Amino acid sequence: MHFTQLLTTLALAGSAFAMPPKGPKGLADAMKERGREFIGTALTLRGNATEEAIARNPADFNSFTPENSMKWESIEPGRNNFTFDDADRYRDWAKKNKKEIHCHTLVWHSQLPTWVSQGGFDNATLISIMKNHIFKVAGRYKDVCTRWDVVNEALNEDGTYRSSVFYNTIGEAFIPIAFRFAKQASPKSELFYNDYNLEYNGNKTLGAQRIVKLVQSYGVEINGVGLQAHLAQETTPTAGPLPDQKTLETVLRGYTQLDVDVVYTEIDIRMNTPATPEKLRAQAKAYETVAKSCLAVKRCIGMTVWGISDAFSWIPGVFPGEGAALLWDENLKKKPAYDGFLKGIKARK
Ligand SMILES: *[C@@H]1O[C@H](CO)[C@@H](O)[C@H](O)[C@H]1NC(C)=O
Ligand SMILES: *[C@@H]1O[C@H](CO)[C@@H](O)[C@H](O)[C@H]1NC(C)=O
Ligand SMILES: *[C@@H]1O[C@H](CO)[C@@H](O)[C@H](O)[C@H]1NC(C)=O
Ligand SMILES: *[C@@H]1O[C@H](CO)[C@@H](O)[C@H](O)[C@H]1NC(C)=O
Repeated sequence: MHFTQLLTTLALAGSAFAMPPKGPKGLADAMKERGREFIGTALTLRGNATEEAIARNPADFNSFTPENSMKWESIEPGRNNFTFDDADRYRDWAKKNKKEIHCHTLVWHSQLPTWVSQGGFDNATLISIMKNHIFKVAGRYKDVCTRWDVVNEALNEDGTYRSSVFYNTIGEAFIPIAFRFAKQASPKSELFYNDYNLEYNGNKTLGAQRIVKLVQSYGVEINGVGLQAHLAQETTPTAGPLPDQKTLETVLRGYTQLDVDVVYTEIDIRMNTPATPEKLRAQAKAYETVAKSCLAVKRCIGMTVWGISDAFSWIPGVFPGEGAALLWDENLKKKPAYDGFLKGIKARK
């Protein structure tokens, strides 16, 4: 076609369809079009330009969770010795690329340096250590942390409190105390309790409801529950099968009824590897189900997937023989799961 012909064609098309209805271009576009806040990914800046470009694409992601850089062992490896350089890189990346940060995490029993876990501190001292940590970390990033996972994984599978230096020394009060400090240090951040295996509507689900009520009973603000959603599309040695959509919605509503938001914070949906075309189709359906459950519940404000590519997922290293859990494959090609997730976000019922 000659250039002038092209212009004529475009002009004609333009008169007929002045503003062609344009579908959303990506996951985050679709999510915002549905009136929700964000789609995020866990992010490790490891110098892989292809992966980084996917995470940067604003059509798909308007939020990220730093995978490791804000964890206690990374950021306060020695008592009152803060190493902010790595976390600062993520803050700068967020500013440059106009992303929200779902900051992660302030008080967690894991990736916790031994000076804390084995320090033998008494109650008052441990509280002061927690206070210093939260004020220094949440305070430094108060303008960039849209959300904070304040307390992470405080529950056992049966819904009782997990044994940890915080629980064993301070008692359950460590949770509301941590939220109080976090709100003082970073008043604009939304504060979350975050855990895994909350999606099955079992005793652990109820345990997290109890935590929300506990924090509220102290007169302290808690803004949301993060459901990690490390799920499996089929039964594997370590998980599954996927809870159905109705169960997921029931779980989400169990929290929103307590006047807090909900977010899927670390979604990956694994399978027994190797992946086959059939398994990839089932995975697409599973992502669709999870997305639909969020969209069915008004206060499900966003979803974060736990990484971009199967090449870098934590799963095969921790659960050998399982994996292929993300939206892009090991060669950073989009999987059917991406389309399933997008379909679930767009679906009106
Ligand atoms: C990114 O990682 C993928 C998967 O390991 C690899 O195939 C690719 O070469 C890497 N790309 C860059 C630009 O480093
Ligand atoms: C602080 O921690 C860093 C990293 O572990 C270490 O290299 C440095 O020596 C520590 N500084 C002090 C004053 O302890
Ligand atoms: C530790 O101190 C806090 C704050 O005073 C209190 O709420 C909590 O019950 C105490 N824990 C124990 C085990 O005494
Ligand atoms: C929940 O806990 C109760 C009491 O400990 C137990 O009887 C019940 O089987 C548990 N339910 C589930 C679904 O695990």
